Amino acid sequence: MQTNKKNNIAQRPKSQALYESLSQAIPGGVNSPLRAFKSANILPLIAERGDKDMIYDVDGNGYIDYCGSWGPLIHGHSHPAICKAACDQIALGSTFGLSCEPENTIAHLIKEAVPSVEKLRFVSSGTEATMSAIRLARGVTGRDLLVKFSGHYHGHSDMLLMQAGSGLIGLNKEATSAGIPQNVIAHTVSLEYNNVQMCRNFLIDRANKDKIAAVILEPIAGNMGCVPSSLEFLLMLRDVTSEIGALLIFDEVITGFRVGLKGAQGHYGITPDLTCFGKIIGGGFPAAAFGGPSRLMDHLAPLGKVYQAGTLSGNPVAMRAGTESLKLLQQEGFYAELERKTNVITEPVKALITEKGINACLQQVGSMFTLFFGTTSVLSAKDLEQCSSETFFQYFRYLLERGVYVPQLQQECCFVSMAHTDEHLTYTRDLILAFLKT
Ligand SMILES: Cc1ncc(COP(=O)(O)O)c(C=O)c1O
Repeated sequence: MQTNKKNNIAQRPKSQALYESLSQAIPGGVNSPLRAFKSANILPLIAERGDKDMIYDVDGNGYIDYCGSWGPLIHGHSHPAICKAACDQIALGSTFGLSCEPENTIAHLIKEAVPSVEKLRFVSSGTEATMSAIRLARGVTGRDLLVKFSGHYHGHSDMLLMQAGSGLIGLNKEATSAGIPQNVIAHTVSLEYNNVQMCRNFLIDRANKDKIAAVILEPIAGNMGCVPSSLEFLLMLRDVTSEIGALLIFDEVITGFRVGLKGAQGHYGITPDLTCFGKIIGGGFPAAAFGGPSRLMDHLAPLGKVYQAGTLSGNPVAMRAGTESLKLLQQEGFYAELERKTNVITEPVKALITEKGINACLQQVGSMFTLFFGTTSVLSAKDLEQCSSETFFQYFRYLLERGVYVPQLQQECCFVSMAHTDEHLTYTRDLILAFLKT
């Protein structure tokens, strides 16, 4: 067992020195805020290498990795077929700024897997995918208003970094970052996730319905921990958006190819108008996409009037790595085996919570799950406020010291990969059970 030594996470001299040096050149020492481990209040992990289901820091500590770079690594670190495809392409050229064959192969693979996508456009990040899908929706409908849901994350573009303030829906909006003009978020409304009646009322209200360009959501939220939509909620959104002429955008940046080849839309049997992808489709390289029927997608330049572009969009290395990643997913029984692996941890944990009446809950869809402390169910952002971050932090630290790395916030999901071995899964299971019994 590679992880049986207790990691001394308080003493990581190389990580400490490197983080100090990073902090002199990069704000906060990180290129994305969560990597600073501020909420856990510990020195950040500084990665040196990954191998299958393990990640190693620069001090030589190994951790079983359930973060998987926040979702892309469904095959684990450095899968040989993905590495080979990427290296082969680098030898042929790493970027052309022109159309190329690798884009064609992966575009058709995604089209075949996800029937709502007749055409798609590749971009380099999930942020770009959602931003571009929203522009397309506004361009097609000629309307401005965007409806999102509290607790959902769609990247860091200005119009999406807002939350409803307290009080009436749509009033008292607050940007969740400095630097965002109030009039940029004026066209965004954030509603309560999974609240069927309240959302329906807002959408069909005479004052709103002709103004709404799109409703965007994570059909299975992964950015407030794992919180699935109720089927009733999604059916309502599908019906009402069609009725009022707004587009329904599924942000499947996490769920696309994670919960099945058809993503969350296949899981629920609901067809959105536009879908955003990211993470898994790049095979660990920067790639994302948005897609939908030709009648919508053909509004994009150069065919239509909605402008969208990118120097590295459809980057051939990312396209080749992504293609390998998707081909591996097509293997018979892939998702059933991935769920079996995940259940090695989740089923005994759920059973213990029920048996002992512990004030916690484990929410799961396929290979994504979150263990919430201090509550027995999370359906919306409001429920998240009930959760105990103190207990979660103790849990996070308990696991990390024993060689298991889960995301450091309850608002995130654990991801199991096909590289996770049964030995590592049972080791993790036993640790979580032991923590819950303390
Ligand atoms: C559902 C969802 N949408 C969009 C994004 C933004 O993607 P990126 O970080 O690649 O810009 C994320 C990132 O975690 C995400 O989880």
